[in-house]
Amino acid sequence: MARPVRLRRSELATPASNDWMFAKSAASAADLVFLDLEDACAPAERGAARSKAAKALRELDWGATTRAIRMNGVDTRWAYGDVIEVVTEARSALDVIIVPKVRRARDVWWVDVLLTQLEETLGLPSKQIGLEVLIEETEGLENVGEIARASDRLEAIIFGAGDFSASQGARVDTNFEPFVEYPGDIWHYARARVVVAARSAGIDAIDAPFPNYRDAGAYRTACDRAAAMGYMGKWAIHPSQIEPANTAFAPTADEIDHARRVVAAYREAEATGRGATGLDGMLVDAAHLRHAATVARTAELLGR
Ligand code: GLV
Ligand code: MG
Repeated sequence: MARPVRLRRSELATPASNDWMFAKSAASAADLVFLDLEDACAPAERGAARSKAAKALRELDWGATTRAIRMNGVDTRWAYGDVIEVVTEARSALDVIIVPKVRRARDVWWVDVLLTQLEETLGLPSKQIGLEVLIEETEGLENVGEIARASDRLEAIIFGAGDFSASQGARVDTNFEPFVEYPGDIWHYARARVVVAARSAGIDAIDAPFPNYRDAGAYRTACDRAAAMGYMGKWAIHPSQIEPANTAFAPTADEIDHARRVVAAYREAEATGRGATGLDGMLVDAAHLRHAATVARTAELLGR
């Protein structure tokens, strides 16, 4: 089965224990909402939270929003129960499982085979449930190339700056930024590796959570920088972050218009036996056509 193509400009986190928040999340403009059974959910609440999450996935009106959960890591005692209980109760009301703290390809494989067995047992369509993984351990970043190809359910890789900075022993503040003056982005290497691995495997890269939800301007700048690198979206840890992410990761009307003009100019040149032409004083060749295709893909998903 071909991987579904989804918008992921904003991925909104909602603790799976906090069922009073679910309706607002479901009605939000987030492209994806995940009910979190991992770090935002107190350990004592995790068992009960599974049913709360499954009930919400089944019963709320999610509109066009992708419905996801974040399970606990495969090296914890909760992992198998999270998958089995939520999938058994939610069935086809669950689109994606986010797997945190992935270190090796075998971590993804473990979730993949568990899902395959469940789909068979429950009579669900095979490979219906997709996966996203968090790269937030130094070991995971070392192995991100093999992780990106570990399962054909894998749809996206998320860079998790919070745990990653802890794993690396970085001295950063609660927004995962260095206390000292640091030239450039301290996470540039990790961000670059994640997006290269994701794109080379044909899947999306999603940027990290940004805890400082009061600083809308800084969040928007972080979105714009991630988009510039090829990221398709960013986590939102607060509803106020949805709109800026949705805007930053969508092509503007001017970009869409320009991409269409590039395609038209290239096709016209092609028809006369040329592989390159000029547009507004700029060279247009096959590489520009590839850029235009990326813009067109998101524009099409947005119906623009
Ligand atoms: C996300 O889980 C992170 O640790 O940044
Ligand atoms: Mg984390």
